[in-house]
Amino acid sequence: MLSQWSAPNPLLFGSGKCAETGAELAKLGCKRALVIYDKGVESAGIAAKIIAAIESAGIEAVRFSDVQADPPDWSAEAAGALGVREKVDCVVGVGGGSSLDTAKAATMLQTNPPPLKQYYGREGVVTKPSVPLIVIPTTAGTGSECTPGGVITDTERGIKTNIAGAGCRVTLGIIDPELTLGLPKSVTASTGLDALCHSVESYTSARANPFSEVAGREGMRLAGQYLVRAYDDGSDLEARGGMMLASSLGGIAMSGALCHLAHDVGRSLGAKFHVPHGNGCAITLPQVLRAVAHTAPQKLLYVAEALGATDASLANAGEAAAGKALELLRRVNLPTMRDLGLPRADVLRVVPEEVVMQCEMAAKAGIVTSPVPVTLDLIREIVTSAYDEN
Ligand SMILES: [Fe+2]
Repeated sequence: MLSQWSAPNPLLFGSGKCAETGAELAKLGCKRALVIYDKGVESAGIAAKIIAAIESAGIEAVRFSDVQADPPDWSAEAAGALGVREKVDCVVGVGGGSSLDTAKAATMLQTNPPPLKQYYGREGVVTKPSVPLIVIPTTAGTGSECTPGGVITDTERGIKTNIAGAGCRVTLGIIDPELTLGLPKSVTASTGLDALCHSVESYTSARANPFSEVAGREGMRLAGQYLVRAYDDGSDLEARGGMMLASSLGGIAMSGALCHLAHDVGRSLGAKFHVPHGNGCAITLPQVLRAVAHTAPQKLLYVAEALGATDASLANAGEAAAGKALELLRRVNLPTMRDLGLPRADVLRVVPEEVVMQCEMAAKAGIVTSPVPVTLDLIREIVTSAYDEN
């Protein structure tokens, strides 16, 4: 029955809403903001736009523009230290998942002393509440504006880990679809598929509950309706808005229900083979849908229909959902493992063991998300099939 669900923080949604960033900070009583973004957001002119909005409200902006992909602990700690040194009283994260995760970690470090590693983990870690945090996504994928934590790379252990809790709570998400108009096709595809995976996996998770299911259903319906449109025409604002909503709903859906096998494989491909997050998670989605279909045919039927199937039935729901997912990956030109040059034998040697080990560790902490038992044989079958068929 009901496992866990986190209600999202307040959200401001709409075209042009990022112009209200300064006014929102002023409402929170802020005077000096640490603004966190990466070079891509800077060169797209988005950082300057947000900083102008902040400064126009009489708030000073301290810039941290050096966000790293898959943010390593040392980089997040550098952002946090800058904020402490500059005595900021709020943090604004602007960008994709890496910028927003760095912002969450830096926020935590404003009131919780470093090193960051003492706050790793989802359960049983207590952190002090921190300064206000506003997050402004510039991709439609991570859903980070609606999730209670972030992902950080633990460079000592060479793995991705989580931070969560009071210290990195989002105060406000500002979701402005206009910020995604200039995204390249490949980023639209990989981030949009990440959002789809969040909805699909949390909908079929062993921890799914009525709240996450409502959000997941609508998230995948919107991704089914709008991802190809946003991919084909990046200037289609209605499609960009639909994908932003899909992303936020995916974030809400997975807060508590969590993702399962496609993200488990994606994390391993990211950590061991440097495959970008969205690509790595979506790369086995069709095979994962097939593998879990017997646990919830009714849900798989919904997935198939959300992705455009018109003649699916309970009897063939898994195959129909897998087929439609594969069609979508191909339609938006998601690189396959072969396209990425991943050696088949290496992937099969590394990924199944890694996924099983991570799932066993999570199970020991009381977190089981896969609706089917996670075995080496199962993950080998999923990865082999994805490598050979997709
Ligand atoms: Fe993800």
